[in-house]
Amino acid sequence: MYAQMVTTDAVKSAGEMSPEERAFQERIDRGERIEPKEWMPDAYRKTLIRQIGQHAHSEIVGQLPEGNWITRAPTLERKAILLAKVQDEAGHGLYLYSAAETLGVSRDELLEKLHTGRMKYSSIFNYPTLNWADIGAVGWLVDGAAIMNQVPLQKTSYGPYSRAMVRICKEESFHQRQGYDIMMKMSFGTPEQKAMAQDALNRFWYPSLMMFGPSDKDSVHSAQSMAWKIKINTNDELRQKFVDQTVPQAEYLGLTVPDEHLKWNEEKGGYDYSQPDWDEFFDVLAGNGPCNKERLGARVKAWEDGAWFRDALTAHAEKTARRRAASRVAAE
Ligand code: 3HC
Repeated sequence: MYAQMVTTDAVKSAGEMSPEERAFQERIDRGERIEPKEWMPDAYRKTLIRQIGQHAHSEIVGQLPEGNWITRAPTLERKAILLAKVQDEAGHGLYLYSAAETLGVSRDELLEKLHTGRMKYSSIFNYPTLNWADIGAVGWLVDGAAIMNQVPLQKTSYGPYSRAMVRICKEESFHQRQGYDIMMKMSFGTPEQKAMAQDALNRFWYPSLMMFGPSDKDSVHSAQSMAWKIKINTNDELRQKFVDQTVPQAEYLGLTVPDEHLKWNEEKGGYDYSQPDWDEFFDVLAGNGPCNKERLGARVKAWEDGAWFRDALTAHAEKTARRRAASRVAAE
């Protein structure tokens, strides 16, 4: 059982910190942003590389389930909207890889780790998109969960990450609305369309809840990441906010959240809800989800197919640099 293997990152007390670590923690506590060239504990740097890298990979791998539907979107307008959304996700991946590079890791290194299974991407992208309603559900629920997690990250302590999040959140909110718009069209359409929308909600509800990570008691990194303000909220806090926000949206659509225990709890001011199947979650993380092999295979193929283009760009850059150097020498 995973929970028994969890060793939580140890959070040092002020007494255990070196003078540099203490000064660093005081800066974080005052709400200061940390910038790339400034001193930071090695574990802070590594945690950021892990989280930002995983986030970047999620944006890139996340293009696959939706990109698959660009050619099959039902109208020209839907096609143009979906194309724009998928392009935005590529852009998000690029900002995030750039933010990770400021920490001294190269994009090639991060991609190599993704391709060899040594770095993760979000579990959600290992689920298939079987029909057009799934594209609505992905926009509504998956991008909705992503924003819930990412809005607080605009206040994260690392400057380049927080600034990347500002733009990403604006675009994610458009993504969420386009998904909800598809769901409205289908839910208020024919009975068959409504049934497809309900089926998509049934399949994407629990995988969307999993996006926030394991429950707080099983979260390895939360305590340290929150002390460093790399994370602002716990996984369970954000999951609860997502449920509270999404249930009324489902009600407006006339759809039923697939949870017989879902119930408003007046005392806590939020819904009581069923937890996802955590065994399934850890199985997906271990590479055994419905689409893990397909997704990773597609990314590795794209990398290999693009080798000639990267080589050409490098050769061109070297040739240009040589020409510039030669004309400088000639001018002297
Ligand atoms: N999918 C895959 N792995 C996950 C996961 C998920 N949904 N949730 C947790 N994990 C992994 C963690 O990476 C960690 O594994 P590691 O030690 O090998 O890195 C392990 O499970 C334990 O989880 P923790 O709670 O201790 O991990 P974190 O403190 O890192 O919290 C997180 C997980 C909440 C996802 C956090 O990393 C985070 O906020 N990341 C930034 C946001 C992000 O990555 N979002 C991706 C969403 S998809 C997206 O944005 C694309 C958009 O277009 C929809």
